[in-house]
Amino acid sequence: GKDLTFVFDRVFGEGATQEEVFQHSTRGLLDSVLRGYNCSVFAYGATGAGKTYTMLGSEQSPGIMYLSVVELYKRLEARKGEKSCQVLVSYQEVYNEEIHDLLEPKGPLAIREDPEKGVVVQGLSLHQPSSAEQLLEMLARGNKNRTQHPTDANATSSRSHAIFQVCVEQQDVAGGLAAGLRVGKLSLVDLAGSERASVANTRGERLREGANINRSLLALINVINALADAKSKKSHVPYRDSKLTRLLKDSIGGSCRTVVIAAVSPSGLAHQDTYNTLKYASRAKEIKRAAGPSALSVPLKPKVLGSRCPRCRHAVRCQQLQAEVAELRAKLRGQQEAEERALVLPPALVCSPGGLPRSEAPVPRPCSSGLADGREGHGEQLEAGWPLGPQLGAEEEAPEEMPASSPGAAQQAGTLQLQPQHPSCLLQGLSCCQTETLLGALLSVVQKQSSVLRAANLL
Ligand SMILES: Nc1ncnc2c1ncn2[C@@H]1O[C@H](COP(=O)(O)OP(=O)(O)OP(=O)(O)O)[C@@H](O)[C@H]1O
Ligand SMILES: [Mg+2]
Repeated sequence: GKDLTFVFDRVFGEGATQEEVFQHSTRGLLDSVLRGYNCSVFAYGATGAGKTYTMLGSEQSPGIMYLSVVELYKRLEARKGEKSCQVLVSYQEVYNEEIHDLLEPKGPLAIREDPEKGVVVQGLSLHQPSSAEQLLEMLARGNKNRTQHPTDANATSSRSHAIFQVCVEQQDVAGGLAAGLRVGKLSLVDLAGSERASVANTRGERLREGANINRSLLALINVINALADAKSKKSHVPYRDSKLTRLLKDSIGGSCRTVVIAAVSPSGLAHQDTYNTLKYASRAKEIKRAAGPSALSVPLKPKVLGSRCPRCRHAVRCQQLQAEVAELRAKLRGQQEAEERALVLPPALVCSPGGLPRSEAPVPRPCSSGLADGREGHGEQLEAGWPLGPQLGAEEEAPEEMPASSPGAAQQAGTLQLQPQHPSCLLQGLSCCQTETLLGALLSVVQKQSSVLRAANLL
């Protein structure tokens, strides 16, 4: 006998038209979808309360699914000059924890999560209705394939959750492949009714269906509770507890906009169901959209249509390739700079680890100081220093592994034998003639090496 008050954004009476309900519940979401957000509308409530009527309606009085797409087409038509658009629709049901395509029925479909593409139902058919009539026919056909059975509570009771999804991809007419690409998704969900087996008087298969329905509705409620609980912002949201919540993971919470339409019976006999429905609908109202720039900006969201829309896939690939090219360019620049630095190293470091000189003018400099320092005596040192020319040639074929003290090892460390420990040691005691011969030999070796380098395009 308590008076309870619940506050909602809008309350519709028994006489409200389909158009009115659409105007004040879903119409506003279309702006967000066109801006690239994922949005969802759920019809929630007890069995027989009017969820299917609200979402699907009848041919004479079509519901939110039909009215949304017609309105969407109108808006896209108005943007025709500036945007090129593509609309893809799908219609599926979750029945007894299995996903079925309602437009092209086949066996149960697998669901998987792709880091790039988001939630993907494998093999789900996608369609592009070209007119409102075609869309209406599609919805009627899909609904014929939907699992529904009479129960005591509703002669046409939906025994599955139906999900009608509309993906909208828009791109600037002028501009590159990925210019102004926006992808948004609208999920319109007609849930199966929450039911008490005693009221619906279900037995056998219907009872099993009812248990599955209640289980997935409970999973949905748990997800809503986790999202609504501000304290559990960082805690776990149990999306994986049912097929329904896994399927809608990218459309509830985060930066998505969600509308819950709570359907209740005006009969006092249904007060318990009405109370439960209003309680959960109020809970859903507590979900706050993720704040911050990520929720406000409209990033490219390939995950929404990435797997389905070729143009979207190409745009994403194009972005990846551009990033790859930029990375390779940076690497190339770094390499060129390193090579340029190597070319201007001091002449003493003219030999590359492989034994090839990297400059044409290295030899005379270390030796010139020797020449200036004196040329007499030290004949043995000439013997020691003379094999320089042949040594250079030999270095080219030197085995890779050498004792650290060997001349080859010195070269591998980037130094050349020519670099004297004491400036004058190599040429000390040489006669003028010997020095000239030595320099001539060195010059010819250097010329030979540099022509090899030129041929190899390294100079
Ligand atoms: N606003 C309405 N105006 C006219 N008829 C309605 C309205 N709402 C519901 N109905 C009728 O009531 C019956 C039950 O509605 P509906 O099938 O939409 O319930 P439901 O909530 O989808 O139930 P279930 O969970 O069992 O699928 C249907 O025959 C439907 O046409
Ligand atoms: Mg229904």
